Order: sequence, then C-alpha cells, then structure tokens
Amino acid sequence: MLKVFWLAAQKARAEWKNLKLFFFSVQNFLKKKEPLAGKKALVTAGPTYEAVDPARFIGNFSSGLMGYSVAEELAKKGAEVTLVSGPSKLSLTYPDIKKTDVVSAEEMYNAVMKVYEHADIIIMAAAVADFTPVHSAKTKIKKSDTFTAIQLKPTKDILATVGKNKRRNQILVGFALETDNEIKNAARKLNTKNLDFIVLNTLKDKGAGFGTATNKITIIDRNNKITKFDLKPKTDVAKDIVNKIIQLIKK
Ligand code: CTP
Repeated sequence: MLKVFWLAAQKARAEWKNLKLFFFSVQNFLKKKEPLAGKKALVTAGPTYEAVDPARFIGNFSSGLMGYSVAEELAKKGAEVTLVSGPSKLSLTYPDIKKTDVVSAEEMYNAVMKVYEHADIIIMAAAVADFTPVHSAKTKIKKSDTFTAIQLKPTKDILATVGKNKRRNQILVGFALETDNEIKNAARKLNTKNLDFIVLNTLKDKGAGFGTATNKITIIDRNNKITKFDLKPKTDVAKDIVNKIIQLIKK
C-alpha cells in the first residue's frame, strides 16, 4: 500500500516538474517576442536617506512606486532589469527583476557605477538627496548637546555622471520634479545631463509627484518635442514611458 502511494507521489512530482518546465519554456518563448527582448535595463527608484546620527536621517517623501512600476513594465516588455532601490516598503511582483537595496545617495551612486555600462536602457526615477551631512554622529545626538545646525555637502549627481559617460546606443532617461518654471528647468536638465528624454512632474498638479498612486507627466525629448499626458495610475504612466523608449529603439 505504502509503495503504491510512494509511486503515485513520484509520478505526480515528475508531472509537476514537466508542467513547470513547459510553463517556463512557453514564458521564455513569449518573452523573446517582446519588443525589449535581449535588452538590459537599469532603473533607480525611491528616496535616499542621509544619516544625521544612528537614529535620524534627512530624506524625502518618495515611495518608490514610479520607479518600481517602470522596472516591472520594462520586464513585462522582455528586458532584463536591474533595480537599484532606496528605502521603500514596496515589493516587486515580477520575479525576474534583480534588486539591489541601498540607503544613501553615495550607496546608490556606487551601485549604479558598478552596472550602468552594461545597460542599454537607464531610467533614473530615484529622488536622490542633493545634500548629505558632512559628519554623521556615531552616537545619538542628545537634547542636552549643543546642536543648532547640520553642515551639509553636495552629493554626487548620479544621472549627470552617467550622462557624461553615456555610449551612443544607450538610452538615458531622467526625471524632474519641479514646482516652478517647470518646462524650462526640465529642458535644462535634459541638456546638461545629456538625456534622451526627461519625465517632468510638477508638485503644482494635484495627484502628481511623491506619495500618490497617480502621476501627471510631460515628456520632453532631445528634439524638444513636448508631450503632455493625463493624470493616471503610476502603472499606466510607466507604460507611457516604456512605450517612448520602444519608439526610440525602433528608430
Ligand atoms: N539625480 C541623480 N543624482 C543626484 C540628484 C538627482 O541621479 N544626486 C537624478 C534624479 O534621479 C532625477 C534627476 O537627477 O532623475 C533630476 O533630479 P532633480 O532632483 O529634479 O534635479 P537636480 O539635478 O537635483 O536639480 P535641482 O535640485 O536644481 O532641481
């Protein structure tokens, strides 16, 4: 009796293995047909935290949702994706994305420098701190300590560094979060950072920017073509961004 059960279990296991193999080969076959098959993509997402002492940091309100949505959309379209993420509560639903977790702007810079040369598509959606404390205290700063100011120094601009070293056939996309002179500021960043296009969102638009599930973007490309999109879920905004990349690759 026990032997019959054992044989049935072995058979079921072999069938399950075959089914899994079949499923993976169908998935691989379908992936090869996707427009970004064979392309390597690098995405940055989330905020960075700059430590003031072991208990405190300077950060921002980014949730990481925009970058995570872009990473997943690129993977859906067949790209091999690496995501460099600042602190975020989000998790990925797409199993194949390789994720590197970082905390500070410097860690994000180092993680990007290690891999960007091999990427065909680079999208920097992270809200990287522009300044970091000159000294981070080793022990918690006490109320009784004389402490009136945090001395800051600029961080390295990751996007600008990648833009400076960009290969001709690499596609580089940056984000700009603005509150005023939006188009002018974004267009300046597009040129100074040597981007193929920039995704502008303004905090003036309700439902756009940090901490919301929606976004309202304007894409400005190298030919100064300005495309405005409606307010929509960030997952759909990611589709618009990835479609623009696919258009560029086809050209
Ligand atoms: N960025 C970066 N490294 C930094 C700062 C920003 O890679 N140290 C990237 C962001 O990921 C984003 C783009 O640069 O894609 C624009 O970031 P933003 O903060 O809007 O612009 P800044 O260049 O910092 O300019 P400003 O603060 O004057 O608006």
